[in-house]
Amino acid sequence: MQLFKNIEQWKICRAQLSETASLGFVPTMGDLHAGHAALIQRSKQENDFTIVSIFVNPTQFNRAEDLHNYPRTVQADLQLLEESSVDFCLLPDYQDLYADNFRFRVEEHQLTSILEGPVRPGHFTGVLTVVLKLLMLTRAQRAYFGEKDYQQYRLIHDMADAFFLQSEIIAHPTIREADLLPYSSRNTRLNPQQRQKASQFAQLFHQPGVSLSEIEAALKEADIALEYLEEYEGRRYIAVMIDTIRLIDNYPCDCSDHTI
Ligand code: PAJ
Repeated sequence: MQLFKNIEQWKICRAQLSETASLGFVPTMGDLHAGHAALIQRSKQENDFTIVSIFVNPTQFNRAEDLHNYPRTVQADLQLLEESSVDFCLLPDYQDLYADNFRFRVEEHQLTSILEGPVRPGHFTGVLTVVLKLLMLTRAQRAYFGEKDYQQYRLIHDMADAFFLQSEIIAHPTIREADLLPYSSRNTRLNPQQRQKASQFAQLFHQPGVSLSEIEAALKEADIALEYLEEYEGRRYIAVMIDTIRLIDNYPCDCSDHTI
């Protein structure tokens, strides 16, 4: 695997890749787990080359504490990428990626007003801005995003349309642990009691045929703090707090559509 900490060096390498070869791109913030690995495998299957970026993007954290606590496991991540036979890894630093110091930003004014948007002010502006930068840099034919963050995927997909980006934005199904809890870098922060509550949360949310009010009542009973539980365009979305750790999930459902 070729590792690029320097954006200019990556640009030289990118320019040398054949125009007929396809490049798949998996953007990440590191602390790689089975969810990321699935996106990487998919990219490898569908493209001649695969590039993975690792960048803990400060502009998408609306709480300084979350940025500070975000796990940084670069050595283990690079090893996983080597073992997965990834071709390129982009590991930029803030100064290089944000030479403008976040003077330019991508804003969206519709889908960001619901679900994660109001709870995490500025979050999606940070996500869209960094993903636009990374898509411009990689010029990948395909870029892969997890359905675990479905609202994020939708926003990136729509941004790519809005700005006529060349990359196809592809959603990959959520990879889950045996108890249906989605893999997440936050799971490793759960202590055994919290992990048990997280499991209970996953079971409740995924119970077949369960209504929103039944989920809400069961969470209350289990003493799990609900942040939101909503249906939007054929999907059911949830966010809960297990003490200080925030967990989200979603799945497709036959729910009645509504538009913003
Ligand atoms: P990160 O949380 O590292 O996730 C990187 C990608 O992996 C995202 O597309 C996310 O949806 C996907 N992913 C995470 N857990 C998953 C799971 N259990 N199953 C399937 N896919 C999963 O999302 C981000 O980073 C950042 O916002 C980023 C897009 C990199 C911009 O900074």
